[in-house]
Amino acid sequence: MQMCEPLTPEDMMVQSCAEASPAKWHLAHTTWFFESFVLREFLPGYRVFNADFAWLFNSYYESFSAFPEKRLRASFSRPSLDEILHYREHVDASMEQLFDLEPEPEALRRIELGANHEEQHQELLITDILNAFYTNPLKPKYRDQGTKGTREQESRERQSERAKPRPLGFTEFEGGLREAGRAGDGFCFDNELPRHRVWLEPYALANRLVSCGEYAEFMADGGYQKAEFWLSAGWDAVKHNGWRAPHYWNEDGGQWSVFTLRGELPLKELEATPVSQVSFFEADAYARWAGLRLPTEFEWEAAAEDQRVEGNLLDSGNLMPVPDEDLVQKQSNAQRENQKTTNYYGDCWVWTSSAYLGYPGFQPLDGTLGEYNGKFMSGQMVLRGGSCVTPARHIRASYRNFFAPETRWQFSGIRLAK
Ligand SMILES: [Fe+2]
Repeated sequence: MQMCEPLTPEDMMVQSCAEASPAKWHLAHTTWFFESFVLREFLPGYRVFNADFAWLFNSYYESFSAFPEKRLRASFSRPSLDEILHYREHVDASMEQLFDLEPEPEALRRIELGANHEEQHQELLITDILNAFYTNPLKPKYRDQGTKGTREQESRERQSERAKPRPLGFTEFEGGLREAGRAGDGFCFDNELPRHRVWLEPYALANRLVSCGEYAEFMADGGYQKAEFWLSAGWDAVKHNGWRAPHYWNEDGGQWSVFTLRGELPLKELEATPVSQVSFFEADAYARWAGLRLPTEFEWEAAAEDQRVEGNLLDSGNLMPVPDEDLVQKQSNAQRENQKTTNYYGDCWVWTSSAYLGYPGFQPLDGTLGEYNGKFMSGQMVLRGGSCVTPARHIRASYRNFFAPETRWQFSGIRLAK
């Protein structure tokens, strides 16, 4: 609800691309999850708020009910926003009742899944609004500044941002026999299990993400005009979609700017900022142009597993990627001694070269919730590490995000490997 504070009811109706959903729908659907999978089964005498909501706000669970086509979500002028806010209040109050009853272990598991599901939709709500505002001719700002900084702090930060990112370096890893997948008892999604052995040849990972300035060099070198850098399907996507820059980059009179949640910013202020909103195909083409490659998901996980989860995540309040140098400077000396200065988390999800598949012995959850992840295991690539709009408590080393390779509306960027 806090994320919706800067939004008007009209903003909350917009569905501006095939991947996105209206903010209003996100509010209803995350509520629907708790009603459908927790309250109906585990709260004795639960009264459903509205019988039609059970199918109306189902996203994709075929074994639960029929559901409307995704592209129609912007047509839901009814129920009204007020009714959806009442729906949330009704479900919140019922959840409080359930907590008073000391729910059984299966109910607790579903509640934890519901909370993690809602965190995923928090990120989607923000990325969908960014797309909505990008397509609005007035180019509104979601916020004037990061959620934490004052205007004065902000301009100081801007002045201190360096035109160039810190030098690109590589951290070497021995490889060998490793384990991948969630270890320990904490929450994870079914697609992070089972933990299993993987073999890694020696490899190296870049100490930071590729910056906007570096990506602009790829563009200036004819990156989008030379088929030699592209996978066949990627080259088709370039031609079919007319791609010539990342998703929210605009050219006006030879000057590039980038549309962000904080409005349109000149590219020259973002030279050191990680490039974002690129597809897997663009990430792969950039790596090929640079004479390098993308990491596999297991190379990334083995590097990140020993690291604390910190970085430019939603909680930092920046709402956009920030130059790596800023974070390095903020780390205390003590932290530096204990930890490499590479931040594997935040800013942008990094595209890996790994196809999204079930791990050996993968078992989807029982019943309808088995549709949560498993049925999407074809034609998608894995992304790792979270972004500037991922809640910090949501991300971990074993976390697997996944999108089709042409997807560009998320905060997705590039970490090089060799
Ligand atoms: Fe969902």
